[in-house]
Amino acid sequence: MWHSRRAGGLPKGPAVGPGGGAGAWRSRRGRRRLAALTVVCALALSTLVAGGVFAADSGDSQLRTTRAAADPSIERRIDGLLSRMTLDEKLQQLALLADFQATDDAVRKGAGSVFGVTDPARINQLQHIAVEQTRLHIPVLFAFDTIHGFRTIFPIPLAEASSFDPGVAATDFRIGARESAAVGLKQIYSPMVDISHEPRWGRIAEGAGEDPFLGSVMAAARVRAAQGGDYSAADKVATSPKHFAAYGQPEGGRDYNTTDMSEQRLRNLYLPPFKAAVDAGADTAMCSFNAINGVPGCANSHTETDILKREWGFDGFIESDYTAVAELRACPPKNPNEGPCGHGVAADGKDAARLALNAGTDSEMVSTNFVDFGKQLVDEGLVSMARIDDAVRRILRVKFRAGLFKNPFVDVSQVAAKTMTPADVAAERNAAARSMVLLKNDNQTLPLDPGKSVAVIGPLGNDQHDMLGPWWGVGRDTDAVTLFDGIKAQDPNTTFAEGCKILDRDPPDPPNDECGSDAGFDEAVATAQAADQVVLALGETRGESGEAESRSNIDLPGKQQELIDRIKATGKPFVVVLFNGRPLTLDKVDASAPAILEAWFPGIQAGNAAADVLFGKVSPGGKLPVTFPHSVGQVPIYYNHEPTGRPCDPTFKWNSRYRDLPTCDPLYEFGYGLSYTTFQLSNLKLSSHTMPADGRITATVDVKNTGARGGDEVVQLYLHDPVASISQPVRRLRGFQRVTLDPGQTRTVTFTLDASDVGFYDNSGRFVVEPGTIDLFAGDRSSGGLTDSFTVVGSRTR
Ligand code: BGC
Repeated sequence: MWHSRRAGGLPKGPAVGPGGGAGAWRSRRGRRRLAALTVVCALALSTLVAGGVFAADSGDSQLRTTRAAADPSIERRIDGLLSRMTLDEKLQQLALLADFQATDDAVRKGAGSVFGVTDPARINQLQHIAVEQTRLHIPVLFAFDTIHGFRTIFPIPLAEASSFDPGVAATDFRIGARESAAVGLKQIYSPMVDISHEPRWGRIAEGAGEDPFLGSVMAAARVRAAQGGDYSAADKVATSPKHFAAYGQPEGGRDYNTTDMSEQRLRNLYLPPFKAAVDAGADTAMCSFNAINGVPGCANSHTETDILKREWGFDGFIESDYTAVAELRACPPKNPNEGPCGHGVAADGKDAARLALNAGTDSEMVSTNFVDFGKQLVDEGLVSMARIDDAVRRILRVKFRAGLFKNPFVDVSQVAAKTMTPADVAAERNAAARSMVLLKNDNQTLPLDPGKSVAVIGPLGNDQHDMLGPWWGVGRDTDAVTLFDGIKAQDPNTTFAEGCKILDRDPPDPPNDECGSDAGFDEAVATAQAADQVVLALGETRGESGEAESRSNIDLPGKQQELIDRIKATGKPFVVVLFNGRPLTLDKVDASAPAILEAWFPGIQAGNAAADVLFGKVSPGGKLPVTFPHSVGQVPIYYNHEPTGRPCDPTFKWNSRYRDLPTCDPLYEFGYGLSYTTFQLSNLKLSSHTMPADGRITATVDVKNTGARGGDEVVQLYLHDPVASISQPVRRLRGFQRVTLDPGQTRTVTFTLDASDVGFYDNSGRFVVEPGTIDLFAGDRSSGGLTDSFTVVGSRTR
């Protein structure tokens, strides 16, 4: 049961006894500490692929700076407005109201932004009030959580990251932006770019997983697709990467919980996707609920002002998360001065507004401390007028760039034609199939034979609701194709039995209805026995992942494993198809099922896309963007961990191991995923074995389809810096490319490496490139693979 799906382990460390580690000192391999020079990290590498349809690329092409400089004519118009605005009008611009707060009166008072209203007629109505009935005619910015689709609901972002194809993320955001803009929205609270090593945390579903490079590529692709070159276009919106910052690493995996981390870890692991999003042009950002090192995200001048605004040159605005300003002091939504809890860094509402504004938060969501106390704070000199003007300028800048002063209204008659077109639905089906990961396929159980009968069994087998995943925009359950319907469409000889039910229940309802009864198992077994092959549809409901849905146990909920065991006992060939929003502990499933397909929450075409993969119309090519542990006790477990002086070795006592786990590995590692065909990598070549600190080299590797079917492979390039001034991860992904190959076909894949790939941030926040050896690995997952090394000559510091 404790086998691992890794191709190879980490190198074993030397045997060291108690209290000693004498033999453990590694030589410095000729490395010197860094010398100070300046480097601009050269991330820009390749060409823009238009229209949000991207050929599979090596990732790097997304990571180039395309931020537009401020437009002087816009700045002049803002100057003009600011010179005429009263302090009260300015403070109103900082207000960000939820749908339930957005009354005609609130907008008449001049509220700057509204989120959660999606009816285009109501948006127009409120906008008419703003531009016709307020003194300065400033339009409202309407926003929404378009996370993986507005109406055409795509796979959850964690699934899309599994595609290792930025084109999938871009297609989702291109369509989501068009559908959102069609109803009058001009800002989306997306992409969610929180790197996470926490499968217990429900919001891991919303991000791209555990890797900063993959996360950066996906973030940049999403931003570019949603904003285009100019988000005043009728089908574009401003994006808002969130949650700034390090919200993905809450202690204990409990949502909203605190985190404590070093500067190097923050910058090397958690900030890169935000930086990539900002470089791609993201014009707004959302500060997070959580505290880092005791400082809450919306009161953190280091992250908000020093890093985001000054260091990265972000000239858009930062909105707080929902009541996050009020939470600096007391339990929301009580306002202004009641409530015993909260972060406890502000004495009262006024103090919370002072902290948040001075830290760099520009717009306050739901709570109203900026509006309530702004004047008092300015009068008392606790917040400067310049800071208020700066916040207003940033918000107006986004409104100008969004074209709202020119085109404040939407054409309601156009909405239907711009929403969920047949092409959108087809694109979603393709995205969902590309996002699925084949975890196991013994005895070529898959693909299934459409000429034989199928029994679809399980609580998620004929389920529309859960296929949309957490954050379903304005998606409708009735838009979703169930697994049963999708399979039946390709094999009419298909039956269904539910086996058990998993229902969503949140407190105060008891959560005891998650496949808690085996009453339906006999019928499920009978249905399986009557069929040639069985598809078991198991996992989580959409309500079991997402915000505020942390789990302490990440096994399959309820009696689902018993259902697998009952089906296994029938002797029928079967596959487990998993619908879920987080890594699960699947040891028992892996031990009992001959085939496992990780389908995540695939969106509206769930059943059709899964059937495409199950019947082999599409060969699965996704790879895991996050580690699947054997046991929840291994968490956090991730491929790009730092080494220790005593690397894990379960066969020896004085090592970094668990005494009750016979392995150091996860069940399924980052980058892992099977295909219906086989591939071989060969011929890893470097253009040079030395790289000047300000230069670049290329690595090429051949990938051949050695099987009898067409299929996709994701070629992955990892680096390791074996001797550095601070301990470097055992591997870091620095390039990937998904290729489609016919049987026998070979393709040469090229990766370009430069300072941005070999350098890292140190604990004083400097990006350093140090001289010395860099080991390189090319493979189909995060372990094993072909290896070579090169030497960085010279050093750089930024
Ligand atoms: C979430 C954000 C979201 C906001 C508005 C918050 O609870 O943390 O991600 O954008 O609500 O819906």
